[in-house]
Amino acid sequence: MKIALLPGDGIGPDIIEQARRVLDALRLPDVTWFEGDVGGAGYKRHGHPLPPETLEMAKAADAVLFGAVGDPDCDALERHLRPEQAILGLRSELGLFSNLRPAKVFEGLQDMSGLKPELAAAIDLLIVRELNGDVYFGAKGQRITDDGRREGWDAMSYAEDEVRRIAHSAFRAAGTRGKKLCSVDKANVLETSQLWRDVVIETAAEYPDIELSHMYVDNAAMQLVKAPGQFDVVVTGNLFGDILSDLASMCVGSIGLLASASLGERQTAFGTFGLYEPIHGSAPDIAGQGKANPMATILSAAMMLRHSFGREDAAARIEAAVAKALADGIHGGDLGGSYGTEAIGDAVLERL
Ligand code: NAD
Ligand code: IPM
Ligand code: MN
Repeated sequence: MKIALLPGDGIGPDIIEQARRVLDALRLPDVTWFEGDVGGAGYKRHGHPLPPETLEMAKAADAVLFGAVGDPDCDALERHLRPEQAILGLRSELGLFSNLRPAKVFEGLQDMSGLKPELAAAIDLLIVRELNGDVYFGAKGQRITDDGRREGWDAMSYAEDEVRRIAHSAFRAAGTRGKKLCSVDKANVLETSQLWRDVVIETAAEYPDIELSHMYVDNAAMQLVKAPGQFDVVVTGNLFGDILSDLASMCVGSIGLLASASLGERQTAFGTFGLYEPIHGSAPDIAGQGKANPMATILSAAMMLRHSFGREDAAARIEAAVAKALADGIHGGDLGGSYGTEAIGDAVLERL
């Protein structure tokens, strides 16, 4: 099992270290580790946020475990040199179009949610976010208009095959869960979304046992806070999925808890090639202080074992250890507790 570790910036190295400790403790046979520079770290050491050697390493691996990228020092660089281009480049170069972002309340954590405990307790949803298209990857730029004003522009588009493949991913995911799929768009205003909705409806014909609904994204944001228990699987575009998943994290309790898997079509000897990362960023406000909650990254490692290595047993063990630690009151600063990054790693390891 070839695993590429890409720690990145800010809290990235600290959270990846804890995930690595947890994976080491499982004593999985035949693991080969690789480690590469990405993000601001890639730029500072190699002059590029996604150095060619890092991309090659990721391609040669069976799975990539990614920390976070983003460095305030780099915010004024030209866009193609900014740290965030590393994760966008990996997602597109590796064909990882299907981003699974599960959100479920851990037992005993409903009181930590931004929502009323009885609403939070009902959350068990999966956001399937399209990851290779939308306004993220369209043409963009800044220009001077004819009347001399500065103008920024970004093109939003989806082609039908891009929508169809993510719709299939989401219908299949719904088939393994509560058999309900809600497609979130803005078809009342955007042509991109009208095509999205049309193609999702066409695809639904192949999944008669899945109950499909549609919701505008503004209402979806409201419904996630009002009655999150109504959602099973949500499928949406790149931009809406980015925003709704951060929203879902606070419904669950903290952004330090939400993991993700980014998958494409490539199969490896053990499962599906994928990139695994917490949904949060490099958290520059707490970087270098040992305060970051590594649980989202540890849970991402569990998703890696499940999807890329066919090790449901080991994935479930990690998830149970994290759940037990949370139930025992092992809370990081993000949950109002005092446990630091390493202490949380220790607590998960003890329970493993
Ligand atoms: P962020 O997710 O990094 O942080 C938002 C807030 O949540 C901060 O207050 C932070 O301290 C807190 N937080 C995040 N993760 C935490 C954790 N594990 N434990 C405790 N607290 C945590 O979002 P931001 O501040 O908007 O972005 C910071 C940088 O990260 C930017 O450069 C952004 O582009 C980048 N970013 C990268 C990724 C990624 O690598 N996939 C994702 C999101 C943001
Ligand atoms: C995420 C992040 C990224 C995104 C950024 C860093 C490019 O916010 O993974 O959610 O917008 O997809
Ligand atoms: Mn995001």
